[in-house]
Amino acid sequence: MDILLHIFNIIAFSLLFLFMIFSFCILKTYAGKSLKDPSYPPVDGTVFTRIFYFKRFYDYQTEVARKQPTFRVLSPGESDIYTTDTRNIEHVLKLNFNKYSKGVYNQDVMTSLLGQGIFVVDGDKWRQQRKLASFEFSTRVLRDFSCGVFRTNAAKLVKAVSEFAVAGRDILMRCTLDSIFKVGFGVDLNCLDGSSREGTEFMKAFDESNALVYWRFVNPFWKLKRFFNIGSEASLKNNIKIIDNFVHKLISTKRNLLALQQDSNDKEDILSRFLLASEKDPEQMTDKYLRDIILSFIIAGKDTSAGTLSWFFYMLCKNPLIQEKIAQEVRDIIGTTEQETNTIDDFVTKITDEKLEQMHYLHAALTETLRLYPAVPVDGRCAEMDDTLPDGFKVKKGDGVYYMAYAMGRMDYIWGDNAEEFRPERWLKNGIFQPESPFKFVAFHVPSMDFLSRLSSPFFFTAFSVILAFSILGILARRSQKKHERIKYHPIGGTVFNQLLNFNRLHHYMTDLAGKHKTYRLISPFRNEIYTSDPANVEYMLKTNFENYGKGWYNYNILRDLLGDGIFTVDGDKWREQRKVSSYEFSTKVLRDFSSVVFRKNVAKLAHVVLEASNSNQTINIQDLFMKSSLDSIFKVAFGVELDSMCGSSEEGTHFSNAFDDASAMTLWRYVDLSWQIKKYLNIGSEAMLKKNIEVVDNFVYKLIHSKIEQMHNPQDYSSIKKEDILSRFLQVTETDPKYLRDIILNFIIAGKDTTATSLSWFIYVLCKHPTVQEKVAQEVKQAMSITDITNFNELADGIREEALEKMRYLHAAITETLRLYPAVPVDAKICFSDDTLPDGFSVRKGDMVSYQPYAMGRMKFIWGDDAEEYKPERWLDENGEFQKESPFKFTAFQAGPRICLGKEFAYRQMKIFSAVLLCCFEFKLSNDKKPVNYRTMINLHIDGGLNVLAFHRREN
Ligand code: HEM
Repeated sequence: MDILLHIFNIIAFSLLFLFMIFSFCILKTYAGKSLKDPSYPPVDGTVFTRIFYFKRFYDYQTEVARKQPTFRVLSPGESDIYTTDTRNIEHVLKLNFNKYSKGVYNQDVMTSLLGQGIFVVDGDKWRQQRKLASFEFSTRVLRDFSCGVFRTNAAKLVKAVSEFAVAGRDILMRCTLDSIFKVGFGVDLNCLDGSSREGTEFMKAFDESNALVYWRFVNPFWKLKRFFNIGSEASLKNNIKIIDNFVHKLISTKRNLLALQQDSNDKEDILSRFLLASEKDPEQMTDKYLRDIILSFIIAGKDTSAGTLSWFFYMLCKNPLIQEKIAQEVRDIIGTTEQETNTIDDFVTKITDEKLEQMHYLHAALTETLRLYPAVPVDGRCAEMDDTLPDGFKVKKGDGVYYMAYAMGRMDYIWGDNAEEFRPERWLKNGIFQPESPFKFVAFHVPSMDFLSRLSSPFFFTAFSVILAFSILGILARRSQKKHERIKYHPIGGTVFNQLLNFNRLHHYMTDLAGKHKTYRLISPFRNEIYTSDPANVEYMLKTNFENYGKGWYNYNILRDLLGDGIFTVDGDKWREQRKVSSYEFSTKVLRDFSSVVFRKNVAKLAHVVLEASNSNQTINIQDLFMKSSLDSIFKVAFGVELDSMCGSSEEGTHFSNAFDDASAMTLWRYVDLSWQIKKYLNIGSEAMLKKNIEVVDNFVYKLIHSKIEQMHNPQDYSSIKKEDILSRFLQVTETDPKYLRDIILNFIIAGKDTTATSLSWFIYVLCKHPTVQEKVAQEVKQAMSITDITNFNELADGIREEALEKMRYLHAAITETLRLYPAVPVDAKICFSDDTLPDGFSVRKGDMVSYQPYAMGRMKFIWGDDAEEYKPERWLDENGEFQKESPFKFTAFQAGPRICLGKEFAYRQMKIFSAVLLCCFEFKLSNDKKPVNYRTMINLHIDGGLNVLAFHRREN
């Protein structure tokens, strides 16, 4: 009892304690803040309410600033005043500079990491560091040295981007850190290529410390945590230890080195220069002091530059025309030609101060990026005494006054009606860059950027950005000028980054582009990607010049672990040989008859599952059922073995089908996971899983193959077994190499499973959307089979013979129309093997990716007429109701030319048998008509989240 009482007391006291803290905070937040006094800025909530907007904090501030240029946020201490009024900013940062400081609070938060560095201190300490730093940063030695470092690292970055395709914020961060580190300490950190373990550890610790220090601003209990050395504060302490060890080691090594090279001129980096200065004032400039100075410098240079560059690239992706314009400016000014600049290193050495100064448009675009995405979105000072701002609002001693650089960039009253648009032109007059008032454009006013711009304003920051950005663009530009000056390439629709930005609506995005250009290019760092919806080009690449377009090494490399040397992965002779044998087999009557039997049996099984759901009025995920049933069908046809993934009766079968699905998904994942080869080498993550799944698939498949081979060698068994399935047929045709058989058969399974299942799912979807078509199909099926009893599914399925299927022309048209609008393979890419010119007169280069796009093509008015986007089975029928074929270069769902889908007839037969039985017996409706149905961006056009329908018994008549 005593124990219970103790526990109760502890809980009660803890709650009371928390309640008291809470009440105290509320009291401190609201008391003495002159809430009703209009001479203070209006109040917009408290720091606590800010937590709700944490993720979209700067956008939230922008919304408030639109209504009220200056406002107050209450906190348990003083108030925080936020402003976008340029007069206030000038007042705080310039006219009354001495009345405002960093403030005790900010210093408190940042001292652990940045010690007594320039970011943290005020007054004399700041003045002294500033003087020394300004002098050092303006020297020619440092300027030349830093530019050399930027060039080297930019060249390294470009190589990294071209080799590994890992552009993005992370790589820019690494590159910037390497540069700042080399300039700061004269040491190669090599974060970019990860070759220095210590460097990488330092970077990690540095990044984590940064984040943890920032976290202090929102975590009111950080001091308590620091006291107990727990949680985030304990990690911060550990990270700072790693940083300190690293930096102190560097300082002492550098000191020793300097002592040895007294006469050498090699003292270009900042640390060496500060060490020289420290010899004159050893008492003040201790190692600790040097560490603080240098770390502040690194923090100033790293995230700000890298972040801005990332936004810059983002804006260029969003504005391809501006990207092209900048690239043109660089080309014109640098004057690159192929003969002169063969390598990235050549290119970067050509970028001189003078050339940079001429790049006004680039400078404008970078500045415009900073206007909209300032590296430090909010910054401010703390009032050291009571004051009144120019807009008339009063400030109390201790209040923070913050200027909102991010919000300011979006204010109409500062930048005009188009404030939110990215328009480099606003900075140019007659093509010459025009600076703005620094109190309007505050991005460089924040200490960090000011610090940076000081380095050698305006050259330093711009130089780095330019070299970096335009080494990449330079290469692209060079490529497009290559060889034959008269050659023309397709218009640019955007970049591959745009595809990433539009990933979830990729086919919509590409359809929009196809509406503008029949054939267009997307720029990628590695090659051009050409997308065409022009039937003439499609015919050329798939048929006329077939030999020049194929899967290529790239696809083979990705697919071969799962699909081996199967028909899907190979080109040339290997492909020809398989195609020949497979085409023969697929056209035999034996296989045709056998597959029809399988389809009939499986659809009857499926109909029973639908019936059960229908009887209990349950929603059915019909896509899921089609997937299972298609796998069972193709498996049976391939191996002659029942997998029964539909009912899950075979444990081994279920295990196989799960492993096969996972292995397929992970193989596809390789197309977007750029690190898959490293993962494969280390056997980790998705690659380790892929390996395991392939093992499961292989064990199962090889067991089947070996048992079939054994049966073949046993004369008794041989005569008794039926040789209808693909495996037995291939075994008969002499082939007995298990690996070869495995590859061939797995390729059929992958080809036949998802394609048919997704097409059937979209078919049911369009029928739900067009009930009259659904009704018409059902009537046609009934008439074609002249049936009356639709309750016996087995009998019904059994009655669907070739002749009946032939009569179902409307069904054939309705399925074809579905495939026109929802092709199972929405985009299909080939690699161009040698330079070529397409029928439209534009050229493609060796290594370019050329894709035809069945999804976009199905929606093009110039191919299908004004009603291209409408679902109309009638467009496939003539006046007598006969099915009219279309050119396979217009209707590309099954590809065309020598590599046209081998299973086309097989797939139609399956889809028709399945639809005939299901539609004859049931009427389908979407379970939720309001819920939008969309695709999921994958190789096949899956319905995102499946297709949920309700099935109702169809009346017999
Ligand atoms: C609606 C169903 C189907 C559609 C829309 C479809 C579409 C396609 C497409 C677009 C290709 C070219 C892919 C590439 O570039 O590699 C293709 C190839 C192929 N398809 Fe189909 N397919 C379907 C069903 C099937 C079925 C059921 C099978 C076999 C049982 C099959 C077997 C193949 C094979 C073997 C190839 C490779 C042909 C070659 O490279 O020579 N397909 N199919």
